[in-house]
Amino acid sequence: MRLLLSHPEVEGVRGYSSTHAGEAWGSVHPPLSHLEEGSFEEFDVSSAARGADVIFLALPHGKSQELAPEIERCDPSVVVDLAADFRISDPKLYEQYYGPHMCFESVAGYLYGLADVESYGLRNATRIAAPGCFATATLLGLYPLVKAGLLAKTPVCIGLTGSSGSGAALKPTTHHPRRSNNLYGYCATGHRHEAEIADRLRHWSSTGAQECTLLPHSAPLVRGIHATLSAEMVEPCLDPLALFRDAYAGRPFVKILAQPPQLSAVVATNFAHIHAVVRRGGRELVIYVVIDNLVKGAAGQAVQAMNLALGLEETSGLEFSGVSPC
Ligand SMILES: NC(=O)c1ccc[n+]([C@@H]2O[C@H](COP(=O)([O-])OP(=O)(O)OC[C@H]3O[C@@H](n4cnc5c(N)ncnc54)[C@H](OP(=O)(O)O)[C@@H]3O)[C@@H](O)[C@H]2O)c1
Repeated sequence: MRLLLSHPEVEGVRGYSSTHAGEAWGSVHPPLSHLEEGSFEEFDVSSAARGADVIFLALPHGKSQELAPEIERCDPSVVVDLAADFRISDPKLYEQYYGPHMCFESVAGYLYGLADVESYGLRNATRIAAPGCFATATLLGLYPLVKAGLLAKTPVCIGLTGSSGSGAALKPTTHHPRRSNNLYGYCATGHRHEAEIADRLRHWSSTGAQECTLLPHSAPLVRGIHATLSAEMVEPCLDPLALFRDAYAGRPFVKILAQPPQLSAVVATNFAHIHAVVRRGGRELVIYVVIDNLVKGAAGQAVQAMNLALGLEETSGLEFSGVSPC
């Protein structure tokens, strides 16, 4: 809502909520207090979707597929789903990580909204599945290697995430006394975002690595993803920065740095900062990627995908700087 309410090309924003219906936006989300008068409406997917130019679904995984038939009956011009429901094109891969899908036939209608890579491929898209936050960071780090045909074996990504990656509801793993000044790994046997990463790697190339091992960690942060990838090369890569700069040439939100990126530089922004170095004479690359999980890894990427789909300026409403220290 923060991004849409200050977007120069967007008007008529409405917000729907089951728990906050009737409450002013600013009382639910204090940082919105100054922007505009407005209140949350009772969650009702038909009134949200009917006649809408764009509808964003920011629901827990599994809910969007439940609502899909009703949404399609209302026929909004563009749907951007932020959950995992429509991200994975391979039904077996989807089931392996998420279990049965209620309407897998709908997935084919969705484009994977990795905006910094898909770019103008999203022009005129009507159904977009916004990627997960870990998947966004990992795939932005791997894409230049796949594009150059250099990715040999299954790469490994060690990903650190802030507590806002697990949503608004209180959980033991997001409780401040446990989270603050603490660091621990989880889901080492297979994080769900491995599914969409594998799906994308297979879309991009039938040769080279077809999956990535994702080792997530909960870090003592509220926002942000810090990903460190290790990848074996098919042949030595001696100038990884040139490779990355070439792959992301002209892409407005990906910055290739000459030194390891700092997470605080991207917090609350739509930017990804990337750095890569060679090891063992170029046969291995270590790649660092930092993003904000809620903007580049979620809402910002969703708005960027909307901009591309509607033929708006890609950067419209998204060029704000971060706040560091944060
Ligand atoms: N957090 C991240 O970093 C991140 C990054 C990328 C993608 N995503 C994805 O984006 C989606 C939203 O993430 P989030 O972090 O905003 O999650 P969240 O804080 O849990 O918000 C989801 C909202 O959905 C509503 N909701 C909860 N249970 C529901 C139910 N059973 N039926 C209908 N609505 C329900 C609630 O809003 P009301 O009570 O107001 O209706 C809730 O606040 C998820 O699919 C998540 O995987 C999150």
